[in-house]
Amino acid sequence: MEKIMDSKLTLTIPQIEQIALQMEKKSAEEVLEWALNTFGLRIGLASSFGSEDVVLVDIMAKIDKEKTRVFTLDTGRLNQETYDTIDKVRKKYDIQIETFFPERQEVEEMVQTRGMNLMYESIENRKLCCEIRKVHSLNRALSRLDGWITGLRREQVITRSHIQKVEVDFLHNNIVKVNPLADWTNDMVWDYIHKNDVPYNKLHDVGYASIGCEPCTRAVHPNEDPRSGRWWWETATDTHKECGLHWDPIKQSKPKSKK
Ligand code: ADX
Ligand code: SF4
Repeated sequence: MEKIMDSKLTLTIPQIEQIALQMEKKSAEEVLEWALNTFGLRIGLASSFGSEDVVLVDIMAKIDKEKTRVFTLDTGRLNQETYDTIDKVRKKYDIQIETFFPERQEVEEMVQTRGMNLMYESIENRKLCCEIRKVHSLNRALSRLDGWITGLRREQVITRSHIQKVEVDFLHNNIVKVNPLADWTNDMVWDYIHKNDVPYNKLHDVGYASIGCEPCTRAVHPNEDPRSGRWWWETATDTHKECGLHWDPIKQSKPKSKK
């Protein structure tokens, strides 16, 4: 936590876009090397401790442990297995994990007026819960950084099919967003985990394709859409199966870039 420095944009939007073109051809290791060397502790990995994120911690720690900054948004509704993973990662790599909790008052008001399990009652309630428990915390975390790293992959869901390895994050003060695994498949992620003996979330062993909050995530069958385990009671067209951390409605409505 104390490592946080004043945040200032060190690269202009055209500069980031230029670098993005070059990075598209680079491996995850090369992209992360560029990110850590350019930003040091002014860039951090947002980690939900799902399979992609533990791969990224491993690669980052191997590049430079001192520049490996990892933060997590603890919604207060995570699974015990996720907390176990956080502790395993902390110990194995000997790194601190910065933890951002939601604003106490916002959560208290929300559950007093709409109930503990409000998310099941309406899409509006579910989005409010994600907004308060995740999005506001992310905004707080990013307000101190010049860039962030995510485990997003293009094949995860249609709303992510356009992502680049390096992007300008127009939703967050035009800082840099780095998605080193953008072109990885799920098999590549798991090959990396097994070959490098990376600690992973045990929920994956019982069919969880991705890791979210306990009330809103379930295991999926091998032939099911991996994303169907998230907010499973909603239809994909209702909500695009996104919670708002990565959802840019303006970008989504623009035609795909030629690159
Ligand atoms: S979500 O938007 O639907 O919740 P998803 O679970 O697919 O996202 O994760 C995509 C990426 O978002 C992760 O690889 C990670 O970088 C970031 N992320 C998701 N949830 C969290 C969290 N609770 N804390 C920090 N980062 C997160
Ligand atoms: Fe709330 Fe569910 Fe969103 Fe977590 S995923 S913040 S519990 S609605």
